[in-house]
Amino acid sequence: MKLILDNIEKNYEGKKVIKGASFTFEKGKIYGLLGRNGAGKTTLFNCISKDIEYDNGKVLLSDGEGNIEDIDYSKVGFVFSDPVLPEFLTGYEFLKFFIDINKDKIQDLKAIDEYFNIIKIDEEDRYRLIRGYSHGMKNKLQMLCYLITRPEVILLDEPLTSFDVVVALEIRNLLKEIKHNHIIIFSTHILQLATDLCDEIVVLNNGTLEGVDSSIIRSADFEEKIIEILKEEN
Ligand SMILES: Nc1ncnc2c1ncn2[C@@H]1O[C@H](COP(=O)(O)OP(=O)(O)OP(=O)(O)O)[C@@H](O)[C@H]1O
Ligand SMILES: [Mg+2]
Repeated sequence: MKLILDNIEKNYEGKKVIKGASFTFEKGKIYGLLGRNGAGKTTLFNCISKDIEYDNGKVLLSDGEGNIEDIDYSKVGFVFSDPVLPEFLTGYEFLKFFIDINKDKIQDLKAIDEYFNIIKIDEEDRYRLIRGYSHGMKNKLQMLCYLITRPEVILLDEPLTSFDVVVALEIRNLLKEIKHNHIIIFSTHILQLATDLCDEIVVLNNGTLEGVDSSIIRSADFEEKIIEILKEEN
């Protein structure tokens, strides 16, 4: 399976944010998306998930057997940096509802409490309103949704920054476990996280995407080189 971005362009009120971004992402890999503030990472994710209309280009999904189709939003899971959840439900009620409306998509359904165990939300918190959850708890709950439905493409917009170190490690391990069946792209400003978790690094700079030579990723001067790339073209 491949996710193909073909010459994506997105303008906001005449300002060109994405200027012909092309890249092919493959199943089984975790991609780290790096770029400066305002480079357009969130915008690009919104284009992939079809949450916004873009001005030009195509987002395609190839099954690896010659079938290529326009991506359908149901194949994309998008974990926002600011989690969007119904605050008036308890975590338990929300998860029950989420499972109910996605029943036909879920393979290997587990008990609701088992899911909460995965993301380590305490028993008493499961029955509290989401409104009272911390940012990290909301993020975990949102991420859990995609661990349940397992969409082909999972986009994570700076998700791990709000997790405490223990949970971040668990989520990292989880992502590594599930990556074989998914295309995972996550944006981050934490270079350490990118080198730890990612198989490939992609930079969004001046509105276009560019892969970083994988030999650099684990080299001692990775940080310097990335800073150089990001400074250079701005
Ligand atoms: N709805 C919108 N209307 C107008 N301009 C927008 C809108 N959304 C984003 N932009 C502009 O597009 C550019 C890219 O924004 P975007 O949020 O995608 O960047 P980013 O790479 O995610 O940044 P950060 O690292 O800070 O999250 C910015 O200049 C921003 O002001
Ligand atoms: Mg952003």
